[in-house]
Amino acid sequence: MRGTQNIVLLLLWFLSIYATASFCANVTYDSRALVIDGKRRVLISGAIHYPRSAPEMWPDLIQKSKDGGLDVIETYVFWNLHEPVQGQYNFEGRADLVKFVKTVAAKGLYVLLRIGPYVCAEWNYGGFPFWLHLLPGIKFRTDNEPFKAEMKRFTTKIVDIMKQEKLFASQGGPIILSQIENEYGNIDSAFGSAGKSYINWAASMATSQDIGVPWVMCQQSNAPDPIINTCNGFYCDQFTPNSNTKPKFWTEHWSGWYFTFGSAAPFRPVEDIAFAVARFFQRGGTLQNYYMYHGGTNFGRTTGGPYISTSYDFDAPLDEYGTIRQPKWGHLKDVHKAIKLCEEVLVATDPTITSPASNIEIAVYETGDVCAAFLANIDVTDATVDFEGSSYQLPAWSVSILPDCKTVVLNTAQINTESWISSFTTESSKEVVASSEDSVKGWSWIDEPVGITKNNTFSNHGLVEQLKTTGDTTDYLWYSLSIDFEDDTSAQTVLQIKSLGHALHAFINGRLAGSETGHAKINVDIPVTFVTGKNTIDLLSVTVGLQNYGAFFDETGAGITGPVTLKGLKNGSTIDLSSQEWTFQVGLKGAELDLPNGSSGQWNSQCNLPKGQPLTWYKKNFVAPSGTNPVAIDFTGMGKGEAWVNGQSIGRYWLRDVSTHGGCTDTCDYRGAYTSSKCLKNCGKLSQAFYHVPRSWLRPDNNTLVLFEESGGDPTWITFATKQIGSLCSIVSESHPPPVDMWNSGTVGPILSLQCSHPNQVISSIRFASFGTPNGTCGNFKHGDCSSDGVLPIVQKACIGLSNCSIDVSINTFGDPCQKVVKSLAVEATCA
Ligand SMILES: *[C@@H]1O[C@H](CO)[C@@H](O)[C@H](O)[C@H]1NC(C)=O
Ligand SMILES: *[C@@H]1O[C@H](CO)[C@@H](O)[C@H](O)[C@H]1NC(C)=O
Ligand SMILES: *[C@@H]1O[C@H](CO)[C@@H](O)[C@H](O)[C@H]1NC(C)=O
Ligand SMILES: *[C@@H]1O[C@H](CO)[C@@H](O)[C@H](O)[C@H]1NC(C)=O
Ligand SMILES: *[C@@H]1O[C@H](CO)[C@@H](O)[C@H](O)[C@H]1NC(C)=O
Ligand SMILES: *[C@@H]1O[C@H](CO)[C@@H](O)[C@H](O)[C@H]1NC(C)=O
Ligand SMILES: *[C@@H]1O[C@H](CO)[C@@H](O)[C@H](O)[C@H]1NC(C)=O
Repeated sequence: MRGTQNIVLLLLWFLSIYATASFCANVTYDSRALVIDGKRRVLISGAIHYPRSAPEMWPDLIQKSKDGGLDVIETYVFWNLHEPVQGQYNFEGRADLVKFVKTVAAKGLYVLLRIGPYVCAEWNYGGFPFWLHLLPGIKFRTDNEPFKAEMKRFTTKIVDIMKQEKLFASQGGPIILSQIENEYGNIDSAFGSAGKSYINWAASMATSQDIGVPWVMCQQSNAPDPIINTCNGFYCDQFTPNSNTKPKFWTEHWSGWYFTFGSAAPFRPVEDIAFAVARFFQRGGTLQNYYMYHGGTNFGRTTGGPYISTSYDFDAPLDEYGTIRQPKWGHLKDVHKAIKLCEEVLVATDPTITSPASNIEIAVYETGDVCAAFLANIDVTDATVDFEGSSYQLPAWSVSILPDCKTVVLNTAQINTESWISSFTTESSKEVVASSEDSVKGWSWIDEPVGITKNNTFSNHGLVEQLKTTGDTTDYLWYSLSIDFEDDTSAQTVLQIKSLGHALHAFINGRLAGSETGHAKINVDIPVTFVTGKNTIDLLSVTVGLQNYGAFFDETGAGITGPVTLKGLKNGSTIDLSSQEWTFQVGLKGAELDLPNGSSGQWNSQCNLPKGQPLTWYKKNFVAPSGTNPVAIDFTGMGKGEAWVNGQSIGRYWLRDVSTHGGCTDTCDYRGAYTSSKCLKNCGKLSQAFYHVPRSWLRPDNNTLVLFEESGGDPTWITFATKQIGSLCSIVSESHPPPVDMWNSGTVGPILSLQCSHPNQVISSIRFASFGTPNGTCGNFKHGDCSSDGVLPIVQKACIGLSNCSIDVSINTFGDPCQKVVKSLAVEATCA
């Protein structure tokens, strides 16, 4: 027996070696598609940026991407994360790129690696480390020797790491495609002819890396051969590559949009995304990447800007916390299935496109006896189209997919997936025992001193630009001045400050006199009062994420570059303080004392906890919310600052009011072309109240939250919350095509399906059920004029106690409450 077993094991061992060796894929491309081992492929990809989640979240995010029908995971590579100091590399934790790529491979998906190294990405400084800007003679993203040398060095570094780990498909790894530069075509005219020679250099530098898989350049219509130029946008159906030897690829299909502190949050209806996807494949596209599939969180000081929020949710199919967003995730999954049913013929030929009416476009892919068709209505009103002897209803702004040129398996505007309503539940906070009895709810604090208190200070005649001074190692720079007045004070004195941004706080003799924000420019008049004799002016200038986009964005400075003047002194004169001798301090005293780690320092914990006081450090030990649901901290009650949990920065917080922005809509009409300002929510609220704390950063019993509050707040308002799914809803009409799966297994009619978000849960109640003409949205369904009797018990019988259920949406199930009217079934359920 033993012997046999050994032989079997030996055989398996040989097989595994053989299997690894033969896994090496030959990836090329032709005019239609990426060609993997001689086979053209239709590929659906989604962006997940590894530093925007904790490594412990990666397997689940990638599994959910795979379950959503993705073949490929795309990520940028973030230079300033990997080389924060020139020559000192970081590939640990959230920066463990190799681990991320291997995690994708372990789930059986491919990788699209966008090296850049300029990445934009709403990421601090577009991904460039700030030290790069300080190299002598450097000019970014143009035909400049110092820049090209550094760009080549970093690109080679990343390529070498990938090669060493055998991660390119040519070596048996998952990487099938790579990108050099990023959207340079959007801004290259600003660089003149040097822009053109730079892009030619970048192309040949990339090609010479010899990675064995193709390279792309996005938004680069003059991308030199063999680099594939690709499209980014909300729609890319009209795009054509710059040569008929290259395939039509879409590297960024924007699934939503980012938001900034103080602005409303954009969202994008899934009907429109599904329409854009179908239109792209209808018109010959073969690879599409969602930007983002999971947006995640801008932890620490990684967010770009200025002012880009800490949440990078992006209204993506997986939300910031990694939870499936429904119906977006499920409907796109159905779209992917429908497109994959057509894969064979999609890659076999070019489409024949006809337009029987101005708003109708029909594409037919046909070879031999295989045929697939896409019928599109590109208008905002419903239409009917005749195709191959049959008549098809086409809702406004939709595409019907017919994998056999006869049967509609999916219409992009008709959703067969349920909606989930998720919400935050505040945890009644259990206090960590042994917190001082005198303290207020377990909070302790330390004042951050105003002005110069650190050792690493310097003086200069004249003001300084902030970024060159701090090297972007901190958001904070103090500008301090001592000034003597022989005569006493005047009530009308005004301190006038001009700054390049992004925020400032002015203190006179240690007291806050005024604050102002401005992402590109601050020009503020602050009324001040002086005393006779010595006075101090302390100005704290604050950055809130560095610029990440635009020609020469790297040259945008920050801080108080002046002039700074005093107007209306008692003797009537105005004095320009700009060229006086100022003293500067880089960073905060508390950071030097390592307060973010909560350990050192003399924390006060008496009951006179300061509230509404600027420049205050707060600390609290807390018990992690129980369970496995994602955790967030609600910072309502606070102003602006940064927060750390167990020493790890969860990012900047800013409870900025969004009241000045109008244009929000509860529901958004998906019909018609989308723009990032078309569908907005959150007007009149705070721009971001909840901040994600990855579960893996928490210990079950005793955790430390530290915050630095700049402008003043009340920390006793802070609460811990978990995110969960409240209700499931679905509304399906009699005219819906059946779900793709059902069509495959021969079912005829439309079906309403519900499935609990958690596998261990069952449907516990039906909150609403109506068959007829119900209206409203999930959570607010209402019966219409026409509705069948006895719908609720039928739905209860079909669903209660099960993890999932399906109901035929038909008069056979519910009777006919109103003839000659298209009827729908609407259901809202809860799981427990
Ligand atoms: C790789 O595939 C291309 C196109 O299918 C083919 O021309 C080439 O010979 C293949 N190379 C190898 C090493 O198999
Ligand atoms: C919780 O942790 C903090 C810091 O690590 C420590 O000072 C404190 O004593 C701990 N509290 C308890 C109850 O363990
Ligand atoms: C700053 O200087 C003081 C006085 O010279 C010294 O005692 C202190 O240790 C220094 N602090 C740091 C952080 O270097
Ligand atoms: C007015 O007062 C300021 C501050 O004391 C002083 O610097 C300036 O010289 C005075 N101007 C005149 C005209 O006296
Ligand atoms: C603070 O804590 C972080 C995270 O645990 C750690 O990486 C860092 O070294 C600590 N800093 C100091 C000065 O101990
Ligand atoms: C929903 O239906 C009710 C009853 O027919 C009607 O009064 C109401 O206007 C409808 N609401 C919408 C938004 O269609
Ligand atoms: C649906 O429920 C049935 C029975 O309750 C179960 O066997 C099946 O696995 C469930 N399907 C899914 C996709 O969860």
